[in-house]
Amino acid sequence: MAIQHGSGLGLLRCIVLLCSVGFLCFVTAEAAVKKYQFNVQVKNVSRLCNAKPIVTVNGMFPGPTIYAREGDQVLINVTNSAQYNMSIHWHGLKQFRNGWADGPAYITQCPIKPSNSYTYAFNITGQRGTLWWHAHILWLRATVYGAIVIMPETPAPFPFPQPHQETNIILGEWWNSDVETLVNQANQLGLPPPSSDAHTINGKPGPLFPCSEKHTFAMEVESGKTYLLRIINAALNDELFFAVAGHTMTVVEIDAVYTKPFTTRAILIAPGQTTNVLVKADQTPDRYFMAAKPFMDAPVPVDNKTVTAIFQYKGIPTTILPKLPTSLPASNDTKFALDYASKLKSLNTAQFPANVPLKVDRHMFYTIGLGKNPCPSCQNDTKISASLNNITFVMPKVGLLQAHYFNTSGVFKTDFPDRPPKSFNYTGAPLTANLATSLGTRLSKVAFNTTVELVLQDTNLLTVESHPFHLHGYNFFVVGTGVGNFDPAKDPAKFNLVDPPERNTVGVPTGGWTAIRFRADNPGVWFMHCHLELHTMWGLKMAFVVEDGKSPEQKVLPPPSDLPPC
Ligand code: C2O
Repeated sequence: MAIQHGSGLGLLRCIVLLCSVGFLCFVTAEAAVKKYQFNVQVKNVSRLCNAKPIVTVNGMFPGPTIYAREGDQVLINVTNSAQYNMSIHWHGLKQFRNGWADGPAYITQCPIKPSNSYTYAFNITGQRGTLWWHAHILWLRATVYGAIVIMPETPAPFPFPQPHQETNIILGEWWNSDVETLVNQANQLGLPPPSSDAHTINGKPGPLFPCSEKHTFAMEVESGKTYLLRIINAALNDELFFAVAGHTMTVVEIDAVYTKPFTTRAILIAPGQTTNVLVKADQTPDRYFMAAKPFMDAPVPVDNKTVTAIFQYKGIPTTILPKLPTSLPASNDTKFALDYASKLKSLNTAQFPANVPLKVDRHMFYTIGLGKNPCPSCQNDTKISASLNNITFVMPKVGLLQAHYFNTSGVFKTDFPDRPPKSFNYTGAPLTANLATSLGTRLSKVAFNTTVELVLQDTNLLTVESHPFHLHGYNFFVVGTGVGNFDPAKDPAKFNLVDPPERNTVGVPTGGWTAIRFRADNPGVWFMHCHLELHTMWGLKMAFVVEDGKSPEQKVLPPPSDLPPC
């Protein structure tokens, strides 16, 4: 069984293994402190017959898995021994009142400089399931990422059949060249960098790529047993389909929230999202490929190659060629994508309720656009940019959370508008003129405990495209989605306010819209951005300043003493 375990947490590893082989987990009911040491260091790694130095955590690619239990306190000391500034984000952890541990560089902290350390200290409250961590500065998350596995509070087993074993399936992207160099070159031209050379599963491209015999992930299964796959999309720019040849999957959790189980031949997972599925080894014992390839239904170039790993029945010789899945949808299968999204529903039981805000205090409507701004030194004298409500977000030089907490003026404005500057036919014919955007570090100020409804509307500025949006500090409910322009008169009547999916990252469909709701009960500065790194870099991002509430337990905590200075 090829479970890749993190650094030497012997006891915890035992507990996780015992749990995963079906023992009841009444090991300990008290909250524990889980400590990890992350050494950020450069290591030479070779894939596709090509070696290069990459930034890693503890020399591992992917990095170590964080194991914790709901209720635990987690302390992760990050020591930066690489040449880049570093910060790490614990993607999907809510960090209640504790943005200091959230990690996006220049939003909640200044980066950890080379030879410096910072301890991310946080509690895991009210969340259990699969999340992940990644570098949140430059494009360093290309190689600096790993899984977070949060076991449910004891004694509260999974609300689905206990799997025999579990495994992390982390999807990523690999470039043969140095990623930061490619990105710098592209930015000088004002154009996108080349797409990746391969996708990876647990850091490995699989046997359809050259020099990959050693770089193939395999998991051994026993006939008749059920396995939990914790699937994470850590790719930078690609939404991915994933399937196991010959087998169906039962989706039981997304973004660390239980769902109503449903069976599917393939899943769709966007960068930033996680999906837990159960797979029963109920087919003829053989070797089967698990495979992933991109979903792209817009005229945008993409790395279209298929990454594979092996789902191997015990006792079958490894010389047998695995079967490829026939169940992966075509790369432009919009219908599959929309149908799949419509099947995701919160479990919504008494124990795990969906607390959807039913009354909305504040309605927001943000358009997502690509654009072109003047750049005399660039090819074509312009550079591609991206915007929300036509605002391209400009990164500050100091942390926004500090500026907010200490009332430093001049760092950001709080005039981010709730509506675009003008309305137009957002999803009509492609708009190719007047593509300039306005630049600014503009945030949206939200009073404590406001219930917010935000409609994210894709536009055909340059091109329509699907965008996975991620909100820090919160989960939200995806109450509605549709193709074309959002209609405020008709669409809200169709919203699901009973059991909508609850998550931290949601796809806005190509040329469509998605409506989310959340209660702003977590004070702080919270980043929201497209989780396609290319678009984030181009400015498809903004932040909310959620104000403190009146009582002491509704205020941002004081900053830790080792918070990195700028
Ligand atoms: Cu997973 Cu702001 O990111």
